[in-house]
Amino acid sequence: MGSSIQIKKDQKSLHKWYLENKRPLPWRANRNPYFIWISETMLQQTTTTAVIPFFKNFITKFPTLKKLAQAPQEEVIEAWAGLGYYSRARNLHKAAKALALLKTFPKTYKELIEYSGFGPYTSRSVSSIAFDEPVGVLDGNVIRILSRKHNLALSWWKTKERNTLQSLADEYVQGLKSSEVNQALMELGATICKPKNPSCLLCPWLNSCQAKKKNTIEQLPLKKAKPAKKIMLWEVYRPSKSSKKILLIKNNYTPFLKNQWLLPGLIKEVKTRPKSYDCVHHITNYDIYVQIRSKTLSQIETFSKKSEIIKVDPTEIKKFAPSSVLQKILDH
Ligand code: ADE
Repeated sequence: MGSSIQIKKDQKSLHKWYLENKRPLPWRANRNPYFIWISETMLQQTTTTAVIPFFKNFITKFPTLKKLAQAPQEEVIEAWAGLGYYSRARNLHKAAKALALLKTFPKTYKELIEYSGFGPYTSRSVSSIAFDEPVGVLDGNVIRILSRKHNLALSWWKTKERNTLQSLADEYVQGLKSSEVNQALMELGATICKPKNPSCLLCPWLNSCQAKKKNTIEQLPLKKAKPAKKIMLWEVYRPSKSSKKILLIKNNYTPFLKNQWLLPGLIKEVKTRPKSYDCVHHITNYDIYVQIRSKTLSQIETFSKKSEIIKVDPTEIKKFAPSSVLQKILDH
């Protein structure tokens, strides 16, 4: 796949390139494992540029692990609002409560992976970036770079082939600071080895990249086939304008946003896009067409009898239910 001598050489040129080109990102200002954990969790949601303001706001609100652990869950969810995928925020809070009981922050990925929300990526990125544990990290960027560098047409979403890439990533961090080599790979992926139109001429691996040599860059990494999206028709009940409160139920009826506070309603899968709807929302597996029905609070209450309910002030809604689809419906 690549001799260890070649890997040592490439590792050094990559490391040098990183030290000369790294962006001054706020979570790179120190090695605080708590900050690194927060940033790495946010970076799984969106781009570096988009994360910066969220990160700054979050650590201003919760400057220490202890402060996060002690905060009410609604405040944590509120600070996460806009990043999406709220189960991450809930897991983060749960893990903070457990981690705050320890004398020191765990330093190895094997310890970290035991905590809620710490998958292989988060555990490895935190232990390497904060403590230089020599473990490689595999995210979309690293998968792309290694597939191209070694000209590997791997089905990286399958365990065995993913493990091949993981071993390769582990090789690259041996003998140098893994905090820097891992971030160098991420940085290379974000700024040079981009999915489309990579800037190969600026790449420290220009002369050793196997995909460049074989002209396969555009084909790599392999693309995972996406399952067809389901079309959903969602009738939601929103209190009429005169109502001062909004009634939310603990969602037990839609296949998305399960167990989150959501407007009551009815949902069904349909074959084709409905002719009339008020708004549409696209998520990974669903195209959701929303039809808003305005009802009195008591009508909605009758409908929601079997569910757990809360009535909230519209200004407080983000604390309980910050999902963008709900915001879209309420703004409509
Ligand atoms: N993407 C995920 N983690 C990152 C990091 N530490 N630096 C740059 N991009 C990243």
